[in-house]
Amino acid sequence: MELETLETTTTTTDFLPLNGTDHIEFYVGNAKQSAYYYQSAWGYKFVAYSGPETGVRDRASYVLEQGKIRLVLTTAINPESEIAKHHVLHGDGVRFLSLWVDDATKSFEETVKRGAKPYMEPTRFEDENGYVIISAIHTYGDTIHKFVERSNYNGPFLPGFAKPAYAMDVTPVGLKYVDHCVGNVELGQMDNWVKFYEDVMGFKLLLTFDDKDISTEYSALMSKVVSNGNGYVKFPINEPAAGKKKSQIEEYIEFYKGSGVQHIAVEVHDILETVAELRRRGIEFLYVPDTYYEDVLDRVGHINEDIKALQALNILIDRDEEGYLLQIFTKPVEDRPTVFYEIIQRHGAKSFGKGNFKALFESIEREQAVRGNL
Ligand code: FE2
Repeated sequence: MELETLETTTTTTDFLPLNGTDHIEFYVGNAKQSAYYYQSAWGYKFVAYSGPETGVRDRASYVLEQGKIRLVLTTAINPESEIAKHHVLHGDGVRFLSLWVDDATKSFEETVKRGAKPYMEPTRFEDENGYVIISAIHTYGDTIHKFVERSNYNGPFLPGFAKPAYAMDVTPVGLKYVDHCVGNVELGQMDNWVKFYEDVMGFKLLLTFDDKDISTEYSALMSKVVSNGNGYVKFPINEPAAGKKKSQIEEYIEFYKGSGVQHIAVEVHDILETVAELRRRGIEFLYVPDTYYEDVLDRVGHINEDIKALQALNILIDRDEEGYLLQIFTKPVEDRPTVFYEIIQRHGAKSFGKGNFKALFESIEREQAVRGNL
């Protein structure tokens, strides 16, 4: 494993300064019901809506917030729309990984100048709450990066969105912010997309995992992590590697019908509390065998949490040079074996749980075998 120190931006000019993730927009089959899932199970608050009732004819969008995380769930109202076509092809999946910027025009110009394929020229949207500028470029698969400039806007989300007419009472589960978003790309494409993030978006290569790090009896994957200048936005990129049977990345690509967002990792205050509550609410997590916990403390050393409590919830532990982390992965959150979530609590560690990959992938393979996809 190669660990490079992230350069700070004090000596070099960051041509694409990012304030963080603005929102993640999914195209889904039934946004009304997905929104209920994210409210009741995950404790997100429904804060804004756009659809036929607000004068939008072709779609309905539900905006959900918890901590600094903002999800948008959008569904097609008619079968001709590109939203419906996206859903037929991919199932529920991430269409926009939107980034919060101070200058959406410059973000567009700087990235397009360096080779980004434009999706939307800088465009001004306004209503009685002010205005925003949004531009967008293509990334892997049918995924789009929007650049959202919102310093002159104080409405509930974006122009055209209204406060919801109703909102259920929700109990948050302690989700704080998006730690990283992972993309799965097709065989042989990982380095091209790493180069895209380096050359076009000014990201730096942070970590590399090869198939020696991440392989089991059956499958393997390669992964490289890129990060923007201030480290607020981190995108690991995975590609399948040769194994005896189909890798989890190939399974994703087969069912998503191409490259796309594989998982979204969310930082929490207290992973024991969050995961216990999510389990009570019916969220399913990957199973970790008891044998994992037999020698895990020999590998990671002292941790503050009670190992029995972590074991009872199937939470994984890893350590790097700077500290340790606790993490757990949900099963896919739709019927296709595609997008899932990671819950992570960092105690200084800046890495991604390499020490857990083998235990984790063996667990994923058990699930693949049950689905008949191994
Ligand atoms: Fe992750």
